[in-house]
Amino acid sequence: MSTPAHLQVKGLSAGYSGFAVLRDIHIETQPGITVILGPNGAGKTTLLRALAGLIARQGEVLLDGAPLSPQDATACVRRGLALVAEGRQLFPQMSVTENLELGGWLTPASERKHRLAQAFEDFPRLKERASQLAGTMSGGEQQMVAVARAMMCGPRLLMLDEPSLGLAPRMVDELLAIVQRIARQQGVTVLMVEQNVRKALSVADRGYVLERGRIVAADGAAQLLASDTIRRAYLGAA
Ligand SMILES: Nc1ncnc2c1ncn2[C@@H]1O[C@H](COP(=O)(O)OP(=O)(O)OP(=O)(O)O)[C@@H](O)[C@H]1O
Ligand SMILES: [Mg+2]
Repeated sequence: MSTPAHLQVKGLSAGYSGFAVLRDIHIETQPGITVILGPNGAGKTTLLRALAGLIARQGEVLLDGAPLSPQDATACVRRGLALVAEGRQLFPQMSVTENLELGGWLTPASERKHRLAQAFEDFPRLKERASQLAGTMSGGEQQMVAVARAMMCGPRLLMLDEPSLGLAPRMVDELLAIVQRIARQQGVTVLMVEQNVRKALSVADRGYVLERGRIVAADGAAQLLASDTIRRAYLGAA
């Protein structure tokens, strides 16, 4: 088990060609799962993309106290960040094993073999289907391939963008349970965007609410789950 990564985001702003989306974001991860909630268009995906070095940003981002260089996705991977983007982006004509091996592109071959074994231990469903073409798997199985592939680069900070999107409730439970196990047993810090608010908060340790590009609430997951504001806005409580 590695020491959990500590991410600190201080005064981050980001957007697209002059159009500001995120303003003055402050977040900090703790060991375990941190969830980011918020309505469509709030800027959740933009935040993960800015942290992963895929788009420009202003402000300070520290990983274990040392600055992460902005807009350098390869440097981010080398520092232990992995992002599972919305939409999975698997190679549909390649097998599960081949997809996973591609995830370990920066990893020496011997280490890659070890990580593949770990991935199949974490995702037993994928072990049974190791030689199946990724494009022929169910939505939930494909999402598992996407997460397992991200784990192949040995991340210390795993970022997931709506992993439960489009999955049946049982598959959501199975996937989130695996993510929770990875966080607890392997010491991987998880930063996860979710619209499945109740389920996400029930596995998370901490949560932030992002609305119109700003953080409007930050608290322990249990406190957010119990808060009237969250219940009214996100859990459909009267
Ligand atoms: N490539 C882009 N170019 C220009 N604007 C963009 C781009 N991607 C996103 N946006 C805009 O940035 C804002 C935030 O989008 P973002 O995808 O981060 O929201 P989100 O919180 O992830 O929403 P959702 O829950 O629907 O996934 C939106 O107004 C969106 O239209
Ligand atoms: Mg999004």
